[in-house]
Amino acid sequence: MARIFSGIQPTGIAHLGNYLGAIRNWVALQEGNEGIYCLVDLHALTVWVDPAALRAQTRTNAALLIACGIDPARSILFNQSAVHAHARLAWIFNCVARFGWLNRMTQFKDKAGKDREAVSTGLFVYPNLMAADILAYHATEVPVGDDQSQHLELANDIAQKFNHDYGVEFFPTITPRIMSASARIMSLRDGSKKMSKSDPSDQSRINLTDNADAIAQKIRRAKTDAEPLPDSVEGLAHRPEAQNLVSIYAVLANQPLAEVLRTHEGKGFGPFKESLTELVESVIRPIAEATRQIEQDTGEIDRILRNGADRAAAIADPIVTEAEKIVGFLQP
Ligand code: AMP
Ligand code: TRP
Repeated sequence: MARIFSGIQPTGIAHLGNYLGAIRNWVALQEGNEGIYCLVDLHALTVWVDPAALRAQTRTNAALLIACGIDPARSILFNQSAVHAHARLAWIFNCVARFGWLNRMTQFKDKAGKDREAVSTGLFVYPNLMAADILAYHATEVPVGDDQSQHLELANDIAQKFNHDYGVEFFPTITPRIMSASARIMSLRDGSKKMSKSDPSDQSRINLTDNADAIAQKIRRAKTDAEPLPDSVEGLAHRPEAQNLVSIYAVLANQPLAEVLRTHEGKGFGPFKESLTELVESVIRPIAEATRQIEQDTGEIDRILRNGADRAAAIADPIVTEAEKIVGFLQP
């Protein structure tokens, strides 16, 4: 039995990329493991977010995770700010991680863009907090999409440097659990960009709460090229939009890419998009319906998150208190 930790930012609404790249795997890993799943509201603050929207989206995304199959009786589901151990350990890691390490993070470079002077310092130390999230529980398995693998390498570097500097074997090594077939679902508008909650265009992603009309419209308008579908996987090379749509189909239908192409080769995107729409709808409809129902009882969501936070703190508090002892904080 392994201890699993993963997190999702409660900004916007979780989308198909989150589901296929991460959440689906969180649900599967609940079986036979100890799952700890976190709505990372401290991370959400690294870019401006309206307070009322943050509160609302924390609840909606909690409802979504439950609708996707996270069982709060079995796994621990909570919001990050409710467990202070994360921020306490993050400070220690701010002092362990090197400036140069963080400066090499591609997600920071992407998010900061040209205007580095103007971004929050929180955005820069974001990966230190992420390392703290995981290591505060001594969790060893972390299911994420491919975009997080550099952050997980950094978390391992931090754990190793801490252990080395203080002469302890305190923090374990983390193993990323990345589902290769769906680790990077791309935007429907641009096959070179990942599907993301922060993309200004809602047409770029399928939200897990979208209704049938929205899904049909987004897939119909999804960018493609003028060629018909190829007859082999090699034929998808240099056709990022086609590659993305066929991959989504393959993962949802639980078929290898080659098999999807055998059925659809030579066809235009029109009929293929119709089959894809049906498939996506059949997966999202039950999730969206369950979310709407769960979301109505905010009191119950808050109780679930409070209970999750209490159980999370019971694990993380002693570990972080021990780390504080190791670094020499007096605990009078
Ligand atoms: P975020 O929305 O950035 O909080 O991401 C939550 C989880 O979903 C992380 O494990 C990400 O790696 C994963 N994820 C986010 N976007 C995608 C995507 N487009 N394709 C696959 N996985 C993704
Ligand atoms: N940085 C992750 C993302 O944006 C979210 C996250 C925060 C996370 N803390 C984590 C993921 C710890 C895994 C483990 O996707």
